[in-house]
Amino acid sequence: MMHLLSLFDLSAEQIRHVLTLAGYMKAHPASFQTSLKTKSIAMLFEKPSLRTRVSFEVGIQQLGAQPLYLDAQMVQPGQRESVEDIARNLACWTHGIVARVFKHETLHALKAANIPVINALCDQHHPCQSLADLLTIQERYPIDMKVVDILYVGEGNNVCQSLMVGAAALDLKLTVICPHDFGPQQAFLAELNQRYPQHKIQIGTDLTAVEHADVIYTDTWLSMGDTRDYAQTKKIFAPYQVNQALVKRLQATTVMHCLPAHRNDEITDEVMDSSISAVLQQAENRLYVQKAVLHHLFEEFSHS
Ligand code: CP
Ligand code: NVA
Repeated sequence: MMHLLSLFDLSAEQIRHVLTLAGYMKAHPASFQTSLKTKSIAMLFEKPSLRTRVSFEVGIQQLGAQPLYLDAQMVQPGQRESVEDIARNLACWTHGIVARVFKHETLHALKAANIPVINALCDQHHPCQSLADLLTIQERYPIDMKVVDILYVGEGNNVCQSLMVGAAALDLKLTVICPHDFGPQQAFLAELNQRYPQHKIQIGTDLTAVEHADVIYTDTWLSMGDTRDYAQTKKIFAPYQVNQALVKRLQATTVMHCLPAHRNDEITDEVMDSSISAVLQQAENRLYVQKAVLHHLFEEFSHS
């Protein structure tokens, strides 16, 4: 039984394989049409979504399976019944659970179902996003991703932490710049250092100290479900905005954002709509990496 709760669940070799498979699926849209034939996949979402929901629903159908979207307001995990009981019931009719949850622990509770659980975003990780981001970087720098200077600027939570695991696994150069007290979690860093002691990730708070970046990546300053005051947050994060001046100073050739964006807060219109913006390429790639993940978990891994 294999789950994808974070990119720590995949080896570096598996990540490379999923990216190769995703690239193949992108180039050959009619391939793997019966990979998940007769299967049903539950999609339990506690938070809103556009990209993740649509790309999973379309991808599951393209693999010959049936997606079942379950709004958490209807299912009410932990209120109407326990997360474990929901999971055990879902396993009576479905073959896997794609879940977007507030707390990472909820994903562990869903494992009570004994069917694969895939993280569609939690407070700590967004592994499918990171795989799409890695595929995007690979496509834009096909000769060697390892020479690309990647900069993440913003809050060091789910999207950032998953990017860090992906970068560590693939031996990529990544600099992470977050305001004080908004960096990656200590427990996460301990796990990253233990799993990938040789990683090439640097963490800091001073964006002015960064001299160059090929790729600049940012995310919202206020994540879904975060109740922090936004006016105060904007003051703290203002020096970390991705704008034309930063792009020019660092000589960046790609700008990335997982979306949804608060335009002209963490990223300016000018940059997001510029010729170096990869945001729609990232969004499109969500479809292919998720199909590759599903095929890997349900077909390759279960038969290995
Ligand atoms: N990037 C991303 O996960 O988008 P959604 O929240 O719309 O799914
Ligand atoms: N950090 C953001 C990512 C959205 C895809 C959030 O959790 O809301």
